[in-house]
Amino acid sequence: MKATRRNFIKKGSAALVGTMAFPSFMEEMHANPLPANTGSISSTDETYWKMVRQQFPLSKDWAYLNNGTLGPSPYPVIEAVRKGMMDGDQFGHYGGWEDTSARLAKFVGADENEIALTHNVTDGINIACWGLPLKKGDEVIMTTHEHVGNAFPWLNRQMLHGIVIKVFTPANTAAETLERVKALYTKKTRAIAVPHIPCTQGQVLPAKEICTWAKEKNLFAFIDGAHGPGMLELNLHDMGCDAYASCSHKWMLGPKGTGFLYVRKDFQNTLQTYFVGGGSDNAKWNMASTPIETGTYADTAHRYFGGTQSTGLYKGVVASIDFLENIGMQNIYNRIMHLSTYSQEQLLSFGDKVELITPTEIISRGGVNGFRIRGVDFNKFFSKCMENKVRIRSVQENGLNSLRMSTHIYNSTEDIDRLMELIKKA
Ligand SMILES: Cc1ncc(COP(=O)(O)O)c(C=O)c1O
Repeated sequence: MKATRRNFIKKGSAALVGTMAFPSFMEEMHANPLPANTGSISSTDETYWKMVRQQFPLSKDWAYLNNGTLGPSPYPVIEAVRKGMMDGDQFGHYGGWEDTSARLAKFVGADENEIALTHNVTDGINIACWGLPLKKGDEVIMTTHEHVGNAFPWLNRQMLHGIVIKVFTPANTAAETLERVKALYTKKTRAIAVPHIPCTQGQVLPAKEICTWAKEKNLFAFIDGAHGPGMLELNLHDMGCDAYASCSHKWMLGPKGTGFLYVRKDFQNTLQTYFVGGGSDNAKWNMASTPIETGTYADTAHRYFGGTQSTGLYKGVVASIDFLENIGMQNIYNRIMHLSTYSQEQLLSFGDKVELITPTEIISRGGVNGFRIRGVDFNKFFSKCMENKVRIRSVQENGLNSLRMSTHIYNSTEDIDRLMELIKKA
């Protein structure tokens, strides 16, 4: 039912306290509700995708092409966070985040007992990296395109424990990338820890093929999945990784500071946990008994996180899954690919003046494209974009000195054209 202004005002005083602080937010949220989706939506149905855009409080002045850093949340997610906080703050309810693991699990093709709640991707990477029994000289395969969040935990173990990191550069095709991975294998290789989609140029790596090979070689297969969920339809069981760290605050469009770590059930007794607390235990410890009873770990991925969580934020995560599932992940993927193809075509139309550094192969790309403009300093161009209210990202990681644009369901080809105009001028 579309909420009218009258029935909106009729709601109880509790709701009014919350809404009075930001009436325009509530009005906008109720003004254009997204209809329930019943099936396939064309990736070029601009009327529908404009309605999707109206669900976001994104500034109308800006072309926001930086979902790779943060995904803006739509109104229903923001409202779920507010309501979750109000429930806690009005009545002192403790909890309310327990159902989030089950929803996340279903969304990514895993079981509820394989999902640990975290606050970002970095949390999950650190849990996986530190929990792995590695000793001096053990080798870990990674890429030259790591984000600091995946690079530094493993580099830290290199500094502290003497593990050895071996790197490859992703190739232009999935097949060649896989060959480069295999070429790094030695008798000392113990693990592979690579991004599903590097933050640098958004190339989609052949995660399933990499994990299948890693299992053949008896290696620990870890995937930094910062950009996976919400962009690609995931089935982590099918992918075959041992652990996958991700967040809800990028392509899932969820609240900032929410994430999760998947750890395969059969791997949970191998991946040691060092960070424990309320919920990580099996409730069998007793400090007052003689001798002290230590108990042991929870029989699920809850062993990897403990303590109080934010009800509001995790209600928001569930609302973000509802939002995405209402549109449909296949429809979302198709729209993302439509905008990404358009972006690539535009970048390629500049000929040798612009270098597209993301593969064009369909299985090796998603919603992120990287590029360089010949003879133009990437940082200066980034500043120019900011002056013109076009938000992209500059990529200085690993000396790449490039630029990155990311497009999600709230974007349109007009947003992309604004960036192309600036490239033309540059
Ligand atoms: C590939 C990749 N890994 C890890 C991270 C770190 O994510 P977070 O800030 O949520 O910890 C990012 C963030 O952009 C990323 O792009």
